[in-house]
Amino acid sequence: MTGLSSEQCRQLLDWYALVARVLPWRETADPYHIWISEVMLQQTQVNTVLPRYLSWFNMFPDIQSLADAPLDDVLKAWEGLGYYRRARFLHAAARKVVDENNGDFPRQFDEILSLPGVGRSTAGAIASFCFSLSKPVLDGNVKRVLKRWSVTVNEMADAKLWLLAQQAIDQSDQPALWNQAMMELGATLCSAKSPKCGMCPLADSCASVGKVNEVCGNAPKTDKRSSVRDVHWQVKLYYQPECGLWLEKRPDDGIWGGLWTPPILEKYVPEQGAKPCYIHTLTHRRLHLYGEQIQQDPIGCGQWVKDISKFALPTGIYRLLQIYGLQMLE
Ligand code: ADE
Repeated sequence: MTGLSSEQCRQLLDWYALVARVLPWRETADPYHIWISEVMLQQTQVNTVLPRYLSWFNMFPDIQSLADAPLDDVLKAWEGLGYYRRARFLHAAARKVVDENNGDFPRQFDEILSLPGVGRSTAGAIASFCFSLSKPVLDGNVKRVLKRWSVTVNEMADAKLWLLAQQAIDQSDQPALWNQAMMELGATLCSAKSPKCGMCPLADSCASVGKVNEVCGNAPKTDKRSSVRDVHWQVKLYYQPECGLWLEKRPDDGIWGGLWTPPILEKYVPEQGAKPCYIHTLTHRRLHLYGEQIQQDPIGCGQWVKDISKFALPTGIYRLLQIYGLQMLE
């Protein structure tokens, strides 16, 4: 398996210099800002991240303020971005940096990688963007570019892709720009659905030109889809005008960990023909939510809430409350 030549690397960087999107996290090399952006971008689209990235720093201007904040505030700030584990990891990592490193973001790759929620690709992004270390990013977009470019690695394990990515970044003397350019190529021209080979700076050397759909193309997503399991939850809506809505805090682990919801009966068996009022899809679960308005007093651990805007609720629950006219904002 041969890697990209230095000439091919130059072509990619020249292309990137011409077309790069202006994104706020590309205007800084500050590790706290880059770290937040990369964690937000792990599972969320650029357009969704943009306003959230900007407002994050009003709430948590530096790593110390993030470490000092109660976890509930961090979850609240994360509301709507989904995959809340990322917010819990951010909080834990901020505390680790403050406790163990006096609030200075680590500069060594292995130390960055040891932070909660930071995998090899995210560590590569932080290390290259902030400290110019030659560590590759290998997110979904970059994997697709490399697989297509070197069709021989289509079926190969990630280890081979990491090797190829490392060889490529070693050819470039600008690791930060290199990683940005590879991500940009994967996000724009070398997209999964409609690759634009005619405009690609690597077309001359790419093994998949004209047949990209055979390599990471539009194949039906049978495997992914079948791993999504349907579950049925009954959401018990205790609402009393003088008290508000009864909410409970979910356990830290599992779906919607640490967030606030009305009491939920998880192994609910709906009556035949009953339709969920809302379906919320997560990575491995499709949650069918059935609302049930209840007049009695609730039992168990929870609290009456008159203004839900002060609590972190999952988007699926917001939708359900909207359907029942229970937005509960003071
Ligand atoms: N996705 C992940 N990291 C990114 C970045 N730095 N710029 C654009 N998209 C990204």
